[in-house]
Amino acid sequence: MERTFLAIKPDGVQRGLVGEIIRRFETKGFTLVALKFMKVSKELAEQHYDVHRERPFFAGLVEFITSGPVVAMVWEGEGVVASARKIIGATNPLTSEPGTIRGDFGISIGRNLIHGSDAIETAQREIALWFKDDELVSWQPHLTPWLK
Ligand code: TYD
Repeated sequence: MERTFLAIKPDGVQRGLVGEIIRRFETKGFTLVALKFMKVSKELAEQHYDVHRERPFFAGLVEFITSGPVVAMVWEGEGVVASARKIIGATNPLTSEPGTIRGDFGISIGRNLIHGSDAIETAQREIALWFKDDELVSWQPHLTPWLK
């Protein structure tokens, strides 16, 4: 089953949006596989954003993501990678559609509340980077037949 990596960034935690953000994936019908509340080390931040290493915003991004606790999560479900990206919205909250997390709660590209893997291969890399195998919980939710 397809899985994605999501992380509520320090601004989402500071603004008290953890419950609101998790609710959106839960009520959509996706299944929670792993969740932890943690401070991010500089090493993990740099590895996570490795593709952006040469970009001008890299240093600020690493500083921001290590500035306070984050909620790291793995979610599972058919098409979850692309669907989560839609639920999250475009990178710049000013142009994210209303109804998306970034569109509803953000105004700054540097404070866009949540990270979501951009492809299945990226999700696999990010899940392995952030979680040990034994932190991933396989379980069968009692999904209402109406959802399937
Ligand atoms: P990116 O992977 O392009 O966006 P997304 O998070 O939507 O997958 O960029 C990673 C993060 O880098 C992004 O969430 C916010 C930050 N960022 C900036 O601060 N300035 C920028 O110009 C860009 C493109 C990203």
